[in-house]
Amino acid sequence: MASPLPLIFLLMIYDIKNQHMNLNSGDIQQLLGVLGVSSADWGVNYSQPLICALKDSSVIMSCTYTYPPGYQIMTVFWSKLLIHGEEPPDVSEDPEYSQRLQYLGDKQQNCTIRLNHETQKDEHMYYFRFTTNVTEGRWLGIPGVSLTVTDLQVESPERVTEGDSVRLTCNSSCTLTDRATFIWYRNSQPLTERRDRNNELLLQSVRREDAGRYSCALHGHTYISPAVYLNVMYAPKSVSVSIRPSAEIVEGDSVTLICSSDSNPPALNFSWFKEDESSSVGSGQSFSALQSGRFYCEAHNQHGSQRSDAVTVTVKGRLVILYMSIGVVCGAAVIITMLLIL
Ligand SMILES: *[C@@H]1O[C@H](CO)[C@@H](O)[C@H](O)[C@H]1NC(C)=O
Ligand SMILES: *[C@@H]1O[C@H](CO)[C@@H](O)[C@H](O)[C@H]1NC(C)=O
Ligand SMILES: *[C@@H]1O[C@H](CO)[C@@H](O)[C@H](O)[C@H]1NC(C)=O
Ligand SMILES: *[C@@H]1O[C@H](CO)[C@@H](O)[C@H](O)[C@H]1NC(C)=O
Repeated sequence: MASPLPLIFLLMIYDIKNQHMNLNSGDIQQLLGVLGVSSADWGVNYSQPLICALKDSSVIMSCTYTYPPGYQIMTVFWSKLLIHGEEPPDVSEDPEYSQRLQYLGDKQQNCTIRLNHETQKDEHMYYFRFTTNVTEGRWLGIPGVSLTVTDLQVESPERVTEGDSVRLTCNSSCTLTDRATFIWYRNSQPLTERRDRNNELLLQSVRREDAGRYSCALHGHTYISPAVYLNVMYAPKSVSVSIRPSAEIVEGDSVTLICSSDSNPPALNFSWFKEDESSSVGSGQSFSALQSGRFYCEAHNQHGSQRSDAVTVTVKGRLVILYMSIGVVCGAAVIITMLLIL
């Protein structure tokens, strides 16, 4: 090691230069190297110089520092602001940080801190600063730690067709440093479906029941992504015909048949058929039957079609009704007469 005098001189230069953000550790080493002093005696080591943290979580910035023997550490703090020619401000004095920042290190060699409840506003470079009992014996740990804070976004196709295979991705804007497990929710219920890669959810052969609001989270963290709706399209199912007012009508009146179905998107296209007739007898969601027969409908959407069971419509002639009425009246009269006689 060189004599104390040039070392102090050097540190003075360094201290001034160090506040210049463009100076990297390579430059400093070169500067010190030229003057014959090893910079290895002074240094700050960040074990993760790039941190990608999840919104609302806590992050630990691990850090160690070294200095030559014979110095006593006076102050230790972190800063996020480097102003040329000024002592960097202690970030823990910033009201935005004071409640959330915890210095876990010591005054020997550990300069680790923890920052809780990160928000996007915390995205910054952070530097560790220490001073000793020797005025020039102080150091700023550049280039520092870069903190990026990310939220989570579900990426999913907007709509899929029943039977398709779908992959949902839980995206973050940076690669999360904390390699935690992703959790998925459908309509706020945790899912156990197969995960393809860690941040992907694979739905093989999608069913109608898979439609819903999907969100994702990281195990052990409170933050949950905004939900994204997955719309599952399918061909008409449960096609049926209802009859108004009744399946038996009198000649001259009409009966309305209504076709209903479960489909996504809703069926808008309907065809009506009469059994034993090959061509369709009508279209539209409702159909007026004027004659007896067995009728069924077929509902269509862009994903397919399905037919209903047939319903029977009976049209009775007025004369038949008259005869039936006479029959009933006569029958009643006969019964009453017999009762009276007995
Ligand atoms: C930083 O850490 C690395 C590996 O842990 C070590 O080799 C190096 O000497 C350390 N540097 C300083 C300045 O503490
Ligand atoms: C700084 O502290 C160390 C250790 O306590 C001591 O040996 C040294 O003399 C002090 N230097 C000055 C300039 O006070
Ligand atoms: C620094 O302190 C933190 C918190 O006490 C601890 O978890 C970490 O292991 C320490 N690091 C070193 C290198 O001693
Ligand atoms: C989300 O992640 C997927 C898979 O990693 C990638 O293909 C896609 O581009 C990402 N989208 C955004 C907006 O980052």
